[in-house]
Amino acid sequence: MAVKVKSREVLQSITAYPLGKSILDIQKELGLPMVRNMSEIENVFGCSPLVKEQLKKSLNQLFHYPDGSSANLTLKLSEFLGVDQNQLFIGNGSDEIIRLLLRAFLNHREEAIMADITFPRYRTNVAIEGGVPILVPLESGVHNLSAMYDAINRKTKMVFVCNPNNPTGTIVPKSDLIAFIDKVPENILIILDEAYYEYATSEEYLQSISLLEKYHNLVILRTFSKVYGLAGLRVGYGIMNSFITSELTKVKEVFNVNQLGQTAAVVALDDQGFREDCIRQNEEGKAFLEKALHSLGFSYFPTQSNFMMIHVNIDGNELAEALLNKGIIVKSGKPLGYPESIRVTISSMDDNRHFIEALKMAVKECVQP
Ligand SMILES: Cc1ncc(COP(=O)(O)O)c(C=O)c1O
Repeated sequence: MAVKVKSREVLQSITAYPLGKSILDIQKELGLPMVRNMSEIENVFGCSPLVKEQLKKSLNQLFHYPDGSSANLTLKLSEFLGVDQNQLFIGNGSDEIIRLLLRAFLNHREEAIMADITFPRYRTNVAIEGGVPILVPLESGVHNLSAMYDAINRKTKMVFVCNPNNPTGTIVPKSDLIAFIDKVPENILIILDEAYYEYATSEEYLQSISLLEKYHNLVILRTFSKVYGLAGLRVGYGIMNSFITSELTKVKEVFNVNQLGQTAAVVALDDQGFREDCIRQNEEGKAFLEKALHSLGFSYFPTQSNFMMIHVNIDGNELAEALLNKGIIVKSGKPLGYPESIRVTISSMDDNRHFIEALKMAVKECVQP
């Protein structure tokens, strides 16, 4: 019998986030002894061994609810970043903070400006909250800040800048970003999503925290899901004016960040050697892939993160499928808005090498089927 209950009208235009198959299922389906997953933007090097050790010791505390204020992690981050504790908000991944910012600040029909193409959760969550996403095309894979500024009007409530941008990996030059932040009216929130902050090694990358003193409408989002390798535990954080943190606290779930996640994040900050090692390996992998792709004649967006959008001049789905048959999972650019590209996570040297070899063969197959 058909369900007579109707969900909110807005949900009619929203589809659930498409989740990929598990690696085990893919392996079974294709009968492959080994599959290399280069499609998820996670830390392929895992997480700090110190975190694993500490988590084992924490297991007998699981019957407790977590600390709803994430006090230890807030203190640790405030020391680590040199900001006040009341400027920090800890979330169930930075995903949750995006959602809470909208819940707390976006009124019905108000507009949120973002790049087209960027992290898709901004758009979906703005729509769910009854707001209007305003999409401003990227220019050569980079945020077009002047067009984003021009899109501001009376209805604008917030602007998202994803820096480095997912899925292109690009950054906006720091002087342009500072000039943009300076121009945006103070009643509009500027949400600077720095999920890949740690991977950005360019001189042109803006170190944004010191701007918080002057710009009270600035929100910086970071996460433990990427370089710290804790995506499975869901811990992200925001740095912002204390008024904004207090508003977010009103709309959050009481126990929003799980206990193991809080513990793991504190210990992860203690192991900066692990982080540095991951960045070094990422830089090596990036240099290797850039050189190999260049010699194969492929272009790509200049990345400042742990993934690359590579332009292949072949249908992205087709190439991803051909690579999958060789045991390499990459993300087709097609559903991301780049139909003839693939997005690849920079991985271990062994995986990077296998990827390049598989790419050569897969491209040949796609060109001459
Ligand atoms: C740009 C960007 N922001 C936020 C997130 C969400 O990260 P988290 O795991 O902290 O929720 C992601 C995850 O892929 C991302 O790419």
